[in-house]
Amino acid sequence: MIAIGCDHAATELKNKIKNRLESQGLTVKDFGCHSNQAVDYPDYAIAVAKAVASGECEKGVLICGTGIGMSIAANKVKGIRCALCGDTFSARATREHNNANILALGQRVTGEGLALDIVDVFFGTAFSGDERHMRRIEKITQIEEQK
Ligand code: RB5
Repeated sequence: MIAIGCDHAATELKNKIKNRLESQGLTVKDFGCHSNQAVDYPDYAIAVAKAVASGECEKGVLICGTGIGMSIAANKVKGIRCALCGDTFSARATREHNNANILALGQRVTGEGLALDIVDVFFGTAFSGDERHMRRIEKITQIEEQK
């Protein structure tokens, strides 16, 4: 199951991404928001991040105006590696190298066509599992333990 969430700046793109993932046979849990009425992005970032960190959802997508606020907030949750991507090279690399478990996007920054390509690449790419990448991710996990 894929967790998805957005703020008021990104409901249109969230719905497009949700449809795209569902058309690929994935089950999507929508954590809102559902209108253009102003909300606070951290509320949605934390809901999606907790669903992924707990194992309820395998991965997540968070969208706001820039994607920046969502990624900052989601990365405060232990076990979350949220990557803000504006191109497909980064989307592939963050899955292969960082084993990113949440994709962040900015509706005001990235056009719909590119955003959907980024989603396809992110969800279509596996973690490489290479020892050097595992070692580096383990070092990130150790930083979380120091909190
Ligand atoms: C909302 O105006 C905007 O600040 C938000 O969508 C996001 O871009 C924050 O990082």
